[in-house]
Amino acid sequence: MKFRCLLVATLFAVCGVWVADASKPSLDVIPLPRSVEQTEGQFFRFDDNTTVYCSVPQLRRYLGDYLPTYSWRSLRSRVEVRINPSLGVPKEGYVLSVTPERVVVEGADYAGTFYGVQTLLQMFPAEVYEGGFRSPCSIPCVKITDWPEYPYRGQHLDVARTFVPIEGVKEFVDHLSRYKINRLHLHLTDDQGWRVEIKSHPELTSIGAWRGGDSPIWAVYGSFEEKYGGFYTQAELRDLVAYAAERAVTVIPEIDLPGHSLAVGKVYPEVLCPVERDNTAAAGYDRRNVWCVSREENYALLDDIFRELADVFPSEWVHIGGDEVNMRQWKECPHCSALYNQKGFTSYAQLEAHFLNRVVEIVGRYGKLPVVWNEAINGGNLTKDALVCGWDGIKPCHKATAEGYRTVIMTAQWFYFDMRQSAHEWGHNWAGIVTAEKCYSIDLIEQGFSEAQMAVVEGFEGAFWSEIHLAAKPHFENYVEYMTFPRVCAVAEVGWTPQDRREWSDFSVRLVAHGERMEAMGISYRREAPQPPQGRQITPKMTVTTSLPMSKSEALGKLSAYANDWGYTSKRTCKNGDWVLYEFADAIDDVEVELTTGYRHVVRGMFPTGVVEVSANGIDFRHIADLYNGSATIHITRPVKAIRLRSTATGNGDSFVFLQHPLIRREKNN
Ligand code: ACM
Ligand code: ZN
Repeated sequence: MKFRCLLVATLFAVCGVWVADASKPSLDVIPLPRSVEQTEGQFFRFDDNTTVYCSVPQLRRYLGDYLPTYSWRSLRSRVEVRINPSLGVPKEGYVLSVTPERVVVEGADYAGTFYGVQTLLQMFPAEVYEGGFRSPCSIPCVKITDWPEYPYRGQHLDVARTFVPIEGVKEFVDHLSRYKINRLHLHLTDDQGWRVEIKSHPELTSIGAWRGGDSPIWAVYGSFEEKYGGFYTQAELRDLVAYAAERAVTVIPEIDLPGHSLAVGKVYPEVLCPVERDNTAAAGYDRRNVWCVSREENYALLDDIFRELADVFPSEWVHIGGDEVNMRQWKECPHCSALYNQKGFTSYAQLEAHFLNRVVEIVGRYGKLPVVWNEAINGGNLTKDALVCGWDGIKPCHKATAEGYRTVIMTAQWFYFDMRQSAHEWGHNWAGIVTAEKCYSIDLIEQGFSEAQMAVVEGFEGAFWSEIHLAAKPHFENYVEYMTFPRVCAVAEVGWTPQDRREWSDFSVRLVAHGERMEAMGISYRREAPQPPQGRQITPKMTVTTSLPMSKSEALGKLSAYANDWGYTSKRTCKNGDWVLYEFADAIDDVEVELTTGYRHVVRGMFPTGVVEVSANGIDFRHIADLYNGSATIHITRPVKAIRLRSTATGNGDSFVFLQHPLIRREKNN
């Protein structure tokens, strides 16, 4: 029995969440319910004698982890949970009614009932998530009538770049469901790995789920020293689907096509266009990653894949990709260019849609509808059956909705949770800094969507791409949770609560109260922005040179002038012995120097292994540190005229090295 009720004499005061003064009950429910009315009486008191009667077996099992829950009524069961299809609220809606005598949760359907239960749990003290109460507690008398504004409230998870074991995915689903998120978009394949077992083609995972070591897929994103990977068996995925269904979450699998397909292309090179290997700048790595459109056998393979996938995932939707296709490979392919001419296409985007329409046909055979990334509609010939995920700015969302496509808004500038949350922390920044407040601030009317466009918006989704995840591991106990919570709470309310009831000032107060709840739920959420590095940044006169040919002629001049915080690419990857040299006009001393090859905080385009050497005279160098994931921070306590970074690796998984100027900091007192 999880319910731990200590007998205490103080009845109402101990853990009541009720502030008695107001006409409006003070609840910290997220997402904010549509309607909360105060009702007769003050509190319902939950104590040792109270049990829950739940007539829905699946939900009874779930709720039993938090409250004493039974399939039969007794005098003690003063809480009732049931489905009531004639409740008169829309799909996923519920009515939660609290009087001094009893609590009734009724949902229009299973999901609605589950959400009513979530709201009820959020009215109890946070300790309920730890399996019960330490003392009797009281919840305020209210009637909550609630349903979602949008049917699709999603979270994406990239398990291709960093593999998340199935137990971790289940835990993530559990956390999402607390906030009435109802879709998990599982990005199962990408250039760096194929993560779903396909029994008719076992090589997809026996080979394609692994990179580095002896795998034909090379190491990248911080897994340079190992053969890295993993995959889900179909049995594991069925278990995940059932677990998610119990939490009213539908799992939408994604096979990213026709681009982002390097992993499958390494397993079956014949699926790619027979064009010249694109490997000159990449230490021999073959970077072709696009399915050949004109090879008929490819559609038979895709039929096998989607047949098995459809059998595992009951979702009516399956994501078939469509983003960031390198169309040069089709232009160079004699068969694809012939097909292009034969069809009379005027853009290669039409060839992409032609490919995807054939995949749509395949998934349709297995009763599924397609989801695509926004580029898929650029040719103008993609079926209107597709659900479009608008990610690449708000413009593509405008375009998709104007063309009548049902659309999920997941625009990077608001919803990409791989973006960093303040200037000085881990995460990408190509779409800017994405705070919870930024995510919460989306307003489609403000963004110029017409009523007709709004009518085809299915909802919103946060995205977590995991290129940085592996590299972040030494620094974070749980990077997925750090990056997604509390931003998930914001996207949940954006999707659930009508715009005119949403107010950041109100949400942010409730969010603070949820800190304790998230902790009790076991979520390693991001509490606050980390401190920026201490010290004052200085820019002593410096000249940058390198053994690498640079893509832009001005690159070294700009780096020497500390003129570009973003950096510059070289024309090829690194070789053992390549170097970057920072020479100072006057020796530097008493400073901290942050040295980075590759992007800052993105383990990509760097010297995967290498050394840092310093010189007092600019001629004789001594080893001072090793690069870790392309970077090192050194403390200089004796005069230094030059710093040299030297690669000990050949190849970094990319066809370039990314160079940056050093960040040099002096203690405030110096
Ligand atoms: C994407 O971010 N390439 C969908
Ligand atoms: Zn081709």
